[in-house]
Amino acid sequence: MNATLDHMSTALNRCDESSPFLLENEGAYQAWRARKLRYQEELDATRVFSLDSGSGLPDSMLDKIQKQVTTFNFVVFESTTPLEKSEFLALNRQFGLEDLDVNLGADEDKVTSLQVVSESDKRSQYIPYTSRGMNWHTDGYYNPDGRRINAFALYCVHQSERGGGNFLFDHEMMYLLIRDQAPNLLEALMCDDVMCIPANVQGNRIIRAEETGPVFSLQPGTCSLNMRYTSRPHNIVWKSDRLSANALNLVREILMDGKAMIEIKLHERQGIVCNNILHGRQAFHNGADMPPRLVYRARYYDAISFDKAQA
Ligand SMILES: [Fe+2]
Repeated sequence: MNATLDHMSTALNRCDESSPFLLENEGAYQAWRARKLRYQEELDATRVFSLDSGSGLPDSMLDKIQKQVTTFNFVVFESTTPLEKSEFLALNRQFGLEDLDVNLGADEDKVTSLQVVSESDKRSQYIPYTSRGMNWHTDGYYNPDGRRINAFALYCVHQSERGGGNFLFDHEMMYLLIRDQAPNLLEALMCDDVMCIPANVQGNRIIRAEETGPVFSLQPGTCSLNMRYTSRPHNIVWKSDRLSANALNLVREILMDGKAMIEIKLHERQGIVCNNILHGRQAFHNGADMPPRLVYRARYYDAISFDKAQA
């Protein structure tokens, strides 16, 4: 058995055999695909739901929000009043998101304040803390297997004067478009060694160890689809065999084509909750007479789950 099939069988052992994300389940895939595309015709991806950090999503909205997540893997929301960070986390808990990741630039409460920092701040070497644009990626693609980021949320405290919009691409749609065109390339993207991120070493200190893993994987227990990806050319080594190279080229072509891309510029008090979809950010310019852009970000090991949130 080759490495790809070996990986796939491991995933099958962990997951419900009816998962649409396993290549052998063609019937389940076709049913899932038809439903997803039908819902996309019916719904508006950029619909803004009015939410607050209450003790649960309003019953009147629950079905609609669940369907929005099933269809797009993200929800845009607007809070009626400005949220403190603790209230932002409480809002996210209504989506079943509790298990927070902590990254280098995060605040003590594990929420990251994305804003331009001064050059003397160590974080200024990382693009999220500058006004530069960020190309396509999923969050925490460099995390080890035990710390997979399955969801994240953003909340806009202040938006920039110009730029600063986000572009979004549902990672399940990426899977769907690849499977429609070249299912054999999905096998390459599910290999455990397709993507390697060299260690982050500063001085003599290892900030993060080397990390190798798949692009697409099924998450144990939930069988939800996880995607790890970055379009950054630096600090990443892709497997170089022909199948992997073709698969990577197809991902790039689909992103360049942009048909399934959704653009959104969050206003103050607006945010998104998502299942770690592909996304990026436009470069921005802060106005002289307005507060600088500030966006809260929280990353989670959980995927969105309404069962857990409503329990
Ligand atoms: Fe990101």
